[in-house]
Amino acid sequence: MATNFEIKKERKNSSRIHLEILSLLYIIMRPFFARTGSKVDMVRFLTDLEPKGYTKYIEPFVGGGSMYWSKADCNIQKIINDIHCDLITGYRLLQSGNLSNLERFNTRDMDQLNTIYNYQGDDESCKLAQLLVRFNNTFGSNGRGKLYKPTNPYFKLKNIEKYRETIKNTDIRCEDYLDVINDHDCKDAFLFLDPPYVSSSSGMYKHDTINMAELHSCLSNIQGKFLLTLDNIETNRELFKDFKQVFRTVIGKGRAKGGMGTSDRVDLIIMNY
Ligand SMILES: C[S@@+](CC[C@H](N)C(=O)[O-])C[C@H]1O[C@@H](n2cnc3c(N)ncnc32)[C@H](O)[C@@H]1O
Repeated sequence: MATNFEIKKERKNSSRIHLEILSLLYIIMRPFFARTGSKVDMVRFLTDLEPKGYTKYIEPFVGGGSMYWSKADCNIQKIINDIHCDLITGYRLLQSGNLSNLERFNTRDMDQLNTIYNYQGDDESCKLAQLLVRFNNTFGSNGRGKLYKPTNPYFKLKNIEKYRETIKNTDIRCEDYLDVINDHDCKDAFLFLDPPYVSSSSGMYKHDTINMAELHSCLSNIQGKFLLTLDNIETNRELFKDFKQVFRTVIGKGRAKGGMGTSDRVDLIIMNY
């Protein structure tokens, strides 16, 4: 008979395999850049919670944009934003950079990856490959420090046309989230907000402090519908107690002991509809 541990492990493996199959079939498009706090494992669950009939999608803390990329086939107005300017430079290069001869980045060799990582010229293909290596091959995807894994940038670059097709009409911003909401909120908008988890992500982001009272005040006054993910701590539950709250256990990846996202956690999901 299977033990609890084996059943749990089986659940982890089957949900990951399921997600891999969906993304291989392009039913769910995977993020181009890796980012700490990715919601890639929750996309289907969060999508089921979305409101119906919105005509404008706004993601003010886009990061790797798991939810954004999953909407590749959704032909509505989209606005993505992040305060991390290098990440946004990457999205802009992806959208309209002069890209060519991307096969040259087909490598898992650490010396070659380090050469790409340290590139200093103006070639836009090299800059995009550099940003891919920065975000996808550094510890915690924080874009700093030594490269610690040999992820091949061409794995993403070979699908560049699909990514460009999705991002070509997206409005890409690099501002504080409050400015983007002020500019774009309207009654037919749906806002998906995934700010840094203040209690657990300290030091993992370049920008990791959000004033929760300010966020609450902003969301209390918007016209559109929002779905917000937060860490499930008492202060967050209390602050947003006037809104609908849902809890979701996220199965940890269980790779290295003690690393980010390795153990199970419960997320707090808040909605105004
Ligand atoms: C948890 S991550 C988003 C992850 C994303 N949902 C995904 O699936 O990859 C939060 C993002 O918020 C950005 N951020 C932090 N403070 C911000 C602010 N004041 N305005 C806009 N973005 C901010 C960070 O740079 C980070 O990329």
